[in-house]
Amino acid sequence: MVKVDKFIPKAIDKIKEQIDGPAIIALSGGVDSSVCAILAHRAIGDKLTPIYIDTGLMRKGETERIKEIFSDMNLEVVDAKDRFLSALAGIDDPEEKRKAVGEAFIRVFEEEAKLLKAEYLIQGTIYPDRIESEGGIKSHHNVGGLPSVMDFKSIVEPIEDLYKDEVREVARALELPHEISERMPFPGPGLSVRIVGEVTEELVDAVREANAIVEEELVEQFKPWQTFAAIVGKGTGVKGDVRVHGWIVAVRAVGSRDGMTAEAMELPWSVLRKIESRITAEIPSVARVLYDVTPKPPATIEFE
Ligand code: XMP
Repeated sequence: MVKVDKFIPKAIDKIKEQIDGPAIIALSGGVDSSVCAILAHRAIGDKLTPIYIDTGLMRKGETERIKEIFSDMNLEVVDAKDRFLSALAGIDDPEEKRKAVGEAFIRVFEEEAKLLKAEYLIQGTIYPDRIESEGGIKSHHNVGGLPSVMDFKSIVEPIEDLYKDEVREVARALELPHEISERMPFPGPGLSVRIVGEVTEELVDAVREANAIVEEELVEQFKPWQTFAAIVGKGTGVKGDVRVHGWIVAVRAVGSRDGMTAEAMELPWSVLRKIESRITAEIPSVARVLYDVTPKPPATIEFE
């Protein structure tokens, strides 16, 4: 286990040695990029510009919170919602979606890097990212892509040897808010992989609301390793005495150690009923709510 009080000053000193010009980091609000942004800011101050790309695929309120939390930095917020939606239009294959989001991300980031004349790229790569990417299990869009297409003097990866629980410990020591240090994993392609099939603005809005409801009902009380909602198709329902063809929302709540395997949580019936009644009442386009009881394997945690 990393010794946090030694790791932090050492990491800051190392960044100071590695960087002598304008640097950028893609800040997603996840614990990894947040820890790197804080370490780098302590090391090089305003030479660092964290870039937050609002893909439109983030969870409810996330962009506003990031702006607040990192308000003492030169945070650059790029509104790229339309670009991501058009990049995803007409695509229904999960890996194609990941690729589309990854490519749009690189393009937007590249433009910003040029504008800022950035010479250094800081990345929040952690040890398991390298292992999973090398193993080719799933194309995690936050690793591997950026360095090859851009012309930086160097890539700096301050937490490349840490495991997730160690990064969280560093985050607590850096006094990042609880919602970041304890943040559940959230996939790089965001809500796009929580919509089975083609992504539209209407579906992103619906799945964002459903995710917010699930998190409100489950996170504090049950502390799942990960929980979320996904839109998995359309089905017939009856709303206000009228037959409708509405969206089907699947709720997932899992326990896990590292995401490689997972167990569906045994949630109380009353809690599941409450989630169902909130989702169908608060999101008019949803007609049906399911709870996924499948472990990983054979399912994955996300639906795509
Ligand atoms: P699966 O669905 O493969 O997910 O069981 C395991 C963990 O990885 C997250 N995940 C991703 N994270 N980019 C990411 O950064 C991705 O493309 C991606 N796909 C899945 C998932 O949320 C879970 O925590």
